[in-house]
Amino acid sequence: MKILDPLKIRQDFPMYRHDSLFEGRPLVYLDNAATTFKPYSVIKEGDRYYEDITANAHRGDYSLAHEVDVAYEGARKEVADFINADVDEVCFTSGDSMGMNEIAYGLLPLLKTGDEILLTFAEHASNVLPWYQVAKLTGAVVKFIPLDKEGRVTIDNFKSVLSDKTKIVSLASVTNVLGFLLPVKELCALAHSVGAIYVADGAQSVPHHKTDVKDLDIDFLAFSGHKMLGPTGIGVMYGKKKLLEKMNPLFFGGEMNARFDSCGYVSLSDVPLKFEAGTQNISGAMGLGKACLYIQKIGFDAIEEHELKLKKMAVEGIISNGNATIYNQNCEGGIITFNIDKVFAQDAASYLGSKGVFVRSGQHCAKILPEFLNTQATLRASLYIYNTEDDVKALIEACKHAEDFLDVFFN
Ligand SMILES: Cc1ncc(COP(=O)(O)O)c(C=O)c1O
Repeated sequence: MKILDPLKIRQDFPMYRHDSLFEGRPLVYLDNAATTFKPYSVIKEGDRYYEDITANAHRGDYSLAHEVDVAYEGARKEVADFINADVDEVCFTSGDSMGMNEIAYGLLPLLKTGDEILLTFAEHASNVLPWYQVAKLTGAVVKFIPLDKEGRVTIDNFKSVLSDKTKIVSLASVTNVLGFLLPVKELCALAHSVGAIYVADGAQSVPHHKTDVKDLDIDFLAFSGHKMLGPTGIGVMYGKKKLLEKMNPLFFGGEMNARFDSCGYVSLSDVPLKFEAGTQNISGAMGLGKACLYIQKIGFDAIEEHELKLKKMAVEGIISNGNATIYNQNCEGGIITFNIDKVFAQDAASYLGSKGVFVRSGQHCAKILPEFLNTQATLRASLYIYNTEDDVKALIEACKHAEDFLDVFFN
């Protein structure tokens, strides 16, 4: 297996130029679950659209427009290969949130009073609120799969709520606070056994783990470009072609229709264009294609091993500091969620920030989870391919003294 060298990788990322110095300190960026840095290849490809081949996609009959079509559709193919989808099953969106809304509203006609949508307490707002809306409009009911003590979805817990009433199961394959990796293939097979549709929120899984939509047999998948080295404002909704063909789009406008007339008749374009109303984020799509290639070149085995190694080091270091509670010691990925004892998470994050260590604090848009964790807010350090052992040492060292923040505050 290839070993990943984060220092070599950093050379591809302009955020690490100037000898990694940020405000006079080494840049210790540990907020990759929120968004990631972008390599030159992604930035350059986005720029190529603006500098060399600006025209709209799927609209012009001249050579420049043709070049744009080739670049845009080429990006779709790169993304499709990345998740092992067919190319017409990849619909570009503005990000995971838009994808989840398109899926929820698109599946609305399947739902009636009393039907059940299964989620968990650990879901991000983007995988809860669209379903609340759709449930309100249809009389369907959102039910939560019980989590085990650690906060995981287990097969038994899933079976305890799965029934003939279940019409949709929608789960983050990796949750964004606890970072547990779900047994997606097994859960999906069980959902299918009662005739339910399986939707995967891939915002935190697709950047870090190999996602093969055919092998998993999932029906829908949404994810965001910016969490996987790609640009902001671009994401993907994957759907099995036969389901996409039946599903209504949420947005209507240019290019998603084949024809319409004055009597109100509308015929829609074929998938995937049916889900891409209006002018799209062409440079974003092109950049995302290159992000997929970049990640593939590094390889998921190397990414997983690197993140786990650093996570283990962080967990051991924070535990040995003796002043913190960690909520997800055993998670499979590079997310460490914790609190410094007696320090409110946001205060601790400001303190860590003052030491040049950038982590996220709060509820991380998973606003039901604090009930389960029995805490108002947490700190979250999240790793990616360019993080180093020195980053982790800086985190551990800064955490050792985070109670000092209270001294500064109250003395
Ligand atoms: C699990 C999960 N789902 C959905 C989202 C929403 O992603 P975006 O804000 O890119 O739409 C996030 C973002 O943090 C997430 O972590």
